[in-house]
Amino acid sequence: MSRIAYVNGRYLPHSAAHVHIDDRAHNFADGVYEVILVMAGRMVDEDGHMVRLARSIRELDMVAPMSDRALIHIMDQTILRNRVTDGMVYLQINRGTSPRNHAYDNEALTPTVVCTAKSVVLPSDPETIGGVKVITLSDNRWERVDIKTVSLLPNAMAKTAATRQGAYEAWLYDGDGNVTECSSSNAWIVDLEDRLVTRPLAGNDILPGITRDRVIKLAAENGIEVVERAFSVEEALGAREAFLTSTTSFVKPVTQIDDTVIGNGQPGTTTRTLLAAYLAFAREVTEQAA
Ligand SMILES: Cc1ncc(COP(=O)(O)O)c(C=O)c1O
Repeated sequence: MSRIAYVNGRYLPHSAAHVHIDDRAHNFADGVYEVILVMAGRMVDEDGHMVRLARSIRELDMVAPMSDRALIHIMDQTILRNRVTDGMVYLQINRGTSPRNHAYDNEALTPTVVCTAKSVVLPSDPETIGGVKVITLSDNRWERVDIKTVSLLPNAMAKTAATRQGAYEAWLYDGDGNVTECSSSNAWIVDLEDRLVTRPLAGNDILPGITRDRVIKLAAENGIEVVERAFSVEEALGAREAFLTSTTSFVKPVTQIDDTVIGNGQPGTTTRTLLAAYLAFAREVTEQAA
């Protein structure tokens, strides 16, 4: 079956889906996006994603192209037309198309709306899942990485550096040697007091991950103490457990950081518990919505 993409009011074969060369996302990375998990044909944590999208639009002084309801309808349609049961839906909104000029005039622009969906294989059983290696790199992104913009070149370069070194992700660190987040996920450790640690949202130096937020709630439900505080690369190397979270990686155990094996080199109990809880949560909410 050929893939279908939504572009500015039309559902088109993927190969025929284009935006204009004067689209501001092409010239200035002037756009925002969301990636939402789909399970059993339904979106998971749709509300959180829509709130974050609205915030991204606001923070970039963009104008929403239509109501949330209309955007959700487009995503549902794209999921349906691509027959995605388990997978992801991608929504991108660009400021609009106009002759190249740094300055923009929102009133003269019509936002570009693009939506695609594809199937992905869900992570394996928490009991048997393996861990991944990550590398560490200096975080050289701009100061508003809390906005989910398509301006992702440093992230893309960091991920490529990781891939070239046989690693799954790059963990980024700030000028103080503290981990901010990863190129496309949030970073976590379990410290020596068995507390779950992740960087706080204050400071605009990480993306407020929807999976991060969900995992914090699931940790509380499972009696796992969460501390939102900065942690250094050095602390991470000596941590009991490490993992990363994102819509497409779920809760992914990290068993090696650079050349250091984390814990006993196997995914830890807390990580497995949280992955199991996340999968159970996603299954439950999508079943309820069916
Ligand atoms: C830089 C960055 N941090 C964190 C995340 C995780 O966010 P979410 O859990 O909403 O997918 C992403 C996801 O793409 C990301 O790009």
